Amino acid sequence: MVKLIGKHILLGVSGGIAAYKIPELIRGLRERGATVQVVMTDAAKYFITPLTLEIVSGSPVFNALLNYTSESEMPHIKLAKWADLIILAPATADLLARLSIGMANDLLTTICLAADAKIAVVPSMNQQMYRANITQKNIKILKEHNILVWGPDEGKQACGDFGPGRMLEPLSIIELAENSLSYKKDMLKLHLAITAGPTQEDIDPIRFITNHSSGKMGYSIAQAAAERGAEVTLISGPVNLSTPKGVKRINIISALDMYKQVHDIIHHQEIFIGCAAVADYRPKEVIKEKIKKHKDEINITFIKNIDIIASVAKLIKNRPYVVGFAAETQNIKINAQNKRIKKNLDLICANDISLINHGFNTENNALNLFWKDKEVYLSYSHKLVLSHRLLDEILKSYEKKNKY
Ligand code: PMT
Repeated sequence: MVKLIGKHILLGVSGGIAAYKIPELIRGLRERGATVQVVMTDAAKYFITPLTLEIVSGSPVFNALLNYTSESEMPHIKLAKWADLIILAPATADLLARLSIGMANDLLTTICLAADAKIAVVPSMNQQMYRANITQKNIKILKEHNILVWGPDEGKQACGDFGPGRMLEPLSIIELAENSLSYKKDMLKLHLAITAGPTQEDIDPIRFITNHSSGKMGYSIAQAAAERGAEVTLISGPVNLSTPKGVKRINIISALDMYKQVHDIIHHQEIFIGCAAVADYRPKEVIKEKIKKHKDEINITFIKNIDIIASVAKLIKNRPYVVGFAAETQNIKINAQNKRIKKNLDLICANDISLINHGFNTENNALNLFWKDKEVYLSYSHKLVLSHRLLDEILKSYEKKNKY
């Protein structure tokens, strides 16, 4: 349900009876994570009120082309740059005609001319108007200009006619939006192993020590990489998340399990990302029987766990590109760079967990990326969006290193 997270969808509504379905479309797009802004033509306001669309979209509705006080406010330029996808629904015969000849006589058509984003029209009109040669010619022209045409459906029409011209149902429009915004397959043929979540280190048959990792960051990276065509293996500690589509998941409990599973597959990986919060220590001995509560104090000796990522970065043969994570509360850059150097990583991604709602068990995050000779800040956003930005950076530097 989150395929549209972080996507900006501009919905252009023109004056057709199907406008009554637009609140359902907006709700569905928002439920899947998109931010929706609405632009209405004058005629659309006869079919549905701007107030309704303002309430369901959670944003002001735009209509006026020339109602601003400074150049920086020019809504047609701002909205055109903002949009990842423009959906015109319902798109009347008049709107299709105006678009096909490049008119810019209202806010919506002006935005379409000024936008670099994909544009999809969802025709909605009487069947005879749709069948008219001139409408068909206009649709052909739109297609030649790389404008997507979604639909129409065929069936009983509001006017009583039967035929093609019904607007696609909101769910179909949403599915088409998801497909058209899916990421380019720029990681085909790449094998990626990702560790995620916490490890649990047993104390006795009842108790263990662990940490606050929810697995969300690592799972998001796995999902993003799979969306881009990579072959992804996710070595996961105990978390409450479902496996992203197309990802091979290997469940582990302890750091030692994780070490073993990573080394079982590492020789076939081009990229390794250590996002797990591995327990640094484990009890020297796992007590066989339940520790009884009669003592006021108990002592447990902990020994250091093996450093999984450092062991991967040490490989001489088939060493992958190695990316580590660091959760830091202070001196972010110095601490993260020291970790990168000590573990011989290509890149380290530092979370500042002193900030509220960053890092562990959150939906959103921000990352500071540190290479030997470069740093990049990825601003606060949903972990899936952040993961795609992170993969953009990893790919650039991986390609540079390997001339892949
Ligand atoms: O799971 P979430 O709730 O979404 O939270 C994400 C996260 C905060 C856990 C994640 O973004 C993160 O920062 N993970 C690393 C946490 C950390 O501080 O790790 P570290 O400093 O202990 O280790 C540094 C690197 O070495 C990490 O890549 C870690 O996976 C790796 N490591 C550490 C110890 C060890 N024995 N083996 C390892 O491979």
